[in-house]
Amino acid sequence: DQTGREVLVLLGGAGDLALRMLLPSLYFLEVDRLLPHDLRIIGLARHDHTADSYRKLVREQLGKRATVEESAWNRLAARLDYLSVDITKEEGAKALADKVGPHGDLVVYFALSPSLYGSVCTALQSAGLTGPKTRLVLEKPIGKDFASSCVINGAVGAVVDESQIFRIDHYLGKETVQNLTALRFGNVLFEPLWDNKHIDHVQITIAETEKVGERWPYYDEYGALRDMLQNHLLQLLCLVAMEAPSGFDPDAVRDEKVKVLRSLRPFTKANVAHDTVRGQYVAGVVEGTAREGYLEEVGKPSKTETFVAMKVDIDNWRWAGVPFFLRTGKNLPDRRTQIVVQFKPVPHNIFGSAAQAETKANRLVIDLQPDEDISLTVMTKRPGLSEEGMRLQSLPLSLAMSAAGSRRRIAYEKLLLDVFRGDRTLFVRRDEVEQAWKFVDGVSAAWAEAKIEPAPYAAGTWGPHSATALISPQGRAWNE
Ligand code: BG6
Repeated sequence: DQTGREVLVLLGGAGDLALRMLLPSLYFLEVDRLLPHDLRIIGLARHDHTADSYRKLVREQLGKRATVEESAWNRLAARLDYLSVDITKEEGAKALADKVGPHGDLVVYFALSPSLYGSVCTALQSAGLTGPKTRLVLEKPIGKDFASSCVINGAVGAVVDESQIFRIDHYLGKETVQNLTALRFGNVLFEPLWDNKHIDHVQITIAETEKVGERWPYYDEYGALRDMLQNHLLQLLCLVAMEAPSGFDPDAVRDEKVKVLRSLRPFTKANVAHDTVRGQYVAGVVEGTAREGYLEEVGKPSKTETFVAMKVDIDNWRWAGVPFFLRTGKNLPDRRTQIVVQFKPVPHNIFGSAAQAETKANRLVIDLQPDEDISLTVMTKRPGLSEEGMRLQSLPLSLAMSAAGSRRRIAYEKLLLDVFRGDRTLFVRRDEVEQAWKFVDGVSAAWAEAKIEPAPYAAGTWGPHSATALISPQGRAWNE
């Protein structure tokens, strides 16, 4: 009997995101017996599949990333069904409504091009699928700029309430990102130091070794600024910079994040050349393999940036005078996502000149990937005796959190679980998306006004030279 069962519908069910991330995440939740016990899963796409051929496809894809445990797979397969329709059309949505039947909670996951969100919402509504038990999960990008994000948010908001909308930023599901919140608000040690009296600057890097490759038709329209900075980098910045929320609940957390976004100092024609870097890769070598330049990949002229870096100022009491340096790019030398909180030097050295030269200001390094680690450098006495008096050394207090041999969770596992539980804390609220777009639109407008085009960097290097110059005044350097 299917009546009253919880249903998950994966729109774009035969697409890359569903097969590579969402279904494997559901499988791992199944292994851990964390899925709602009565959950049914319907993959939906226009591709011609039967339920059996779809299960076979899912199983094959799963095999590429894990040794599949038969019992868990059988449980998952028993939940899986498939529907081949065009969900932008009323008939498609009606067919879905028939397949779903009387249901409990209904989660509709949009793993689709955002240009379709509006027509899909209208179709779902006409088929009666947007009632109070419905939750809509939306993937990025929500628009290309402020205006288009308002159109998408408006279309979705016309069929369901904001409390039924789950906008995904998969970085928020990453283990160490959640750990950042635990570190800040689960300890008494950091928060008293978390301000412009004690922190010199913050760096946030999302470096990828991947090229743009086959995704270029999408990427070429967005570039690094819109693809990565508008969402992932700004979300990480918010979590570092926000005030303590009164509770770990959706509105308390998101109220604080949106206040940070509102405090970001907008770029202008006057400062954009100095405080931002736009780059595009040319041919080079990454991890020992030759890479083509971006223009060869897209096969046409393009002014899309594949690297962006900027110095961001947060205009509020806590952060006045503390620059946040952000950077991200494709075809960089290392895959590394890292937040560095650089503290100020000690106000006065008591140990003499030899030790002074050895003294380094404390640095908190939060590694998100490839390894998960939080480490704090502290000064200690160098062991042994010395004629020059006390000698110092900097050592890391490290929390190496990726336990040897343990599997790294896919960020989507946590987020899917939260959707089933109805917890929106780690999802992005409408005003956050829109505020982030306003900031990003300001950057693009300033680039256009100041006629800033991407500077070339060889694949396998850390972006254009100007990225070093961006951070180096006052003796600062990227943590490389
Ligand atoms: C996506 C971007 O949101 O994040 C991609 O569209 C990028 O361009 C990806 O590669 C990076 O995610 P992760 O989890 O691999 O760091």
